[in-house]
Amino acid sequence: MNLEELNHIKTIALQAAQDAETPEAIEAVRIEYLSRKGRLPKIMAELKQVPPPEKPLFGKAVNEFKIQLTDLIQAKQAATKPTAPPSAFDLTQPGQWHPLGTRHPITQITQRITTIFQTLGFTVADGPDIETIFNNFDALNTPPDHPSRDEQDTFYLENGELLRCHTSPVQVRYMQSHTPPIRIISPGRCYRRDTPDATHSANFHQIEGLYVDQDVSLADLKGTLAHFARELMGPYVKTRFRPHFFPFTEPSVEVDFTCHVCNGKGCRVCKQSGWIEILGAGMVDPNVLTNVGYDPQTCSGFAFGMGIERIAMILYGIADIRHLYENDQRFLAQF
Ligand code: DAH
Repeated sequence: MNLEELNHIKTIALQAAQDAETPEAIEAVRIEYLSRKGRLPKIMAELKQVPPPEKPLFGKAVNEFKIQLTDLIQAKQAATKPTAPPSAFDLTQPGQWHPLGTRHPITQITQRITTIFQTLGFTVADGPDIETIFNNFDALNTPPDHPSRDEQDTFYLENGELLRCHTSPVQVRYMQSHTPPIRIISPGRCYRRDTPDATHSANFHQIEGLYVDQDVSLADLKGTLAHFARELMGPYVKTRFRPHFFPFTEPSVEVDFTCHVCNGKGCRVCKQSGWIEILGAGMVDPNVLTNVGYDPQTCSGFAFGMGIERIAMILYGIADIRHLYENDQRFLAQF
C-alpha cells in the first residue's frame, strides 16, 4: 500500500462517516474502519512492509487518518445521540394548584355522629329508602289513624310500599334479623310530603340509634346521649330530657342540648331559652319488641333519632336548609 491508496481509503472513510445519519450507520462505519478487525488496524499491520524511507510519512498519515476518523465519528455520535425528551415536568416551576374538594356538610356531620357512636360500640346498619308499610309504621306501633300515615305526609308507591318517612324502620329490619344484644346506628335518607321552605325539605337525612340488651334503662339512654352531646358540641354541653310522645317508644323524650352559641345563657339562636332541641328518643315500646319477635320480659332497649340537616344547620349556623341541596360552590367551599 502506498500513500495514494491510503489517502483514497481515507477520503472514502471520512465521506462514509460524514454521510452516516443514524447511530446505526455511524456505528457501521466505526466497525468497518476502527474496530479490532477493521481496515485501519490492517493498514497499521502493513506498515511493516513499507520501505523504510517512506515509513515516517506513511505512519504519520495513518495516524492522522485514525485521529480524523475517530474525531468525526465521535462528533457524529454526539450529534445523533438521542437526547432525553423534554420533561413533562419543569421541576423548577412552582406547582399548579388544583383546588381540593371537600365532603358535603351532610356527609361530614353524618360521619362525625357515626364515629362518636362507633367508639361506643355501635355498628352501622343500613336499610332501603323504599319500605313496607309494616316496617315504617305497623311494626313501630304506629296506630292506624296516626297523622303521619296520611297521604298528605307520606309518599306512597303504587305497589303499596312507601318512601320511608324516618330511619326507624331500620330498627325493625335489624331486630328481625339479629338477636340481642344489639347496638346500631343507621344514617340515611328520608322522605316526607313537605313543601320546601327554609326548614323543610321533602327529602332529608336522619340518623337512627338502637340499643337492646338485658336491663337497658332510661339512665343508659341519658348517659349515652350526654356523652354524644359533649363529643358533638363540646365538653361543657349539657342535655335535658323533655317528656314527649312517639308511638315506638315509651316513655318518649325530646332531648335538648344547651345552646352552643351562648352556652346556655340565652341568645337569639336559642330564642333566649338557652336550650336547643336536637333529637327524639325513648325506651323501645314493648309492642315494638314483640312485633319483631323479641321478648319484652327478657330484654329492653332505647332508641333515638335525629335530623342531620337540622344538626348541620345548628352547628354551622346555616339559615336555610335549601343551601344544603343547591350545590352552590360558594356555599359548599366553606366546609
Ligand atoms: N322517627 C322519629 C322522627 O322521625 C325520630 C325518633 C324519635 C326516632 C324517637 C327514634 C325515637 O328512634 O326513639 O322524628
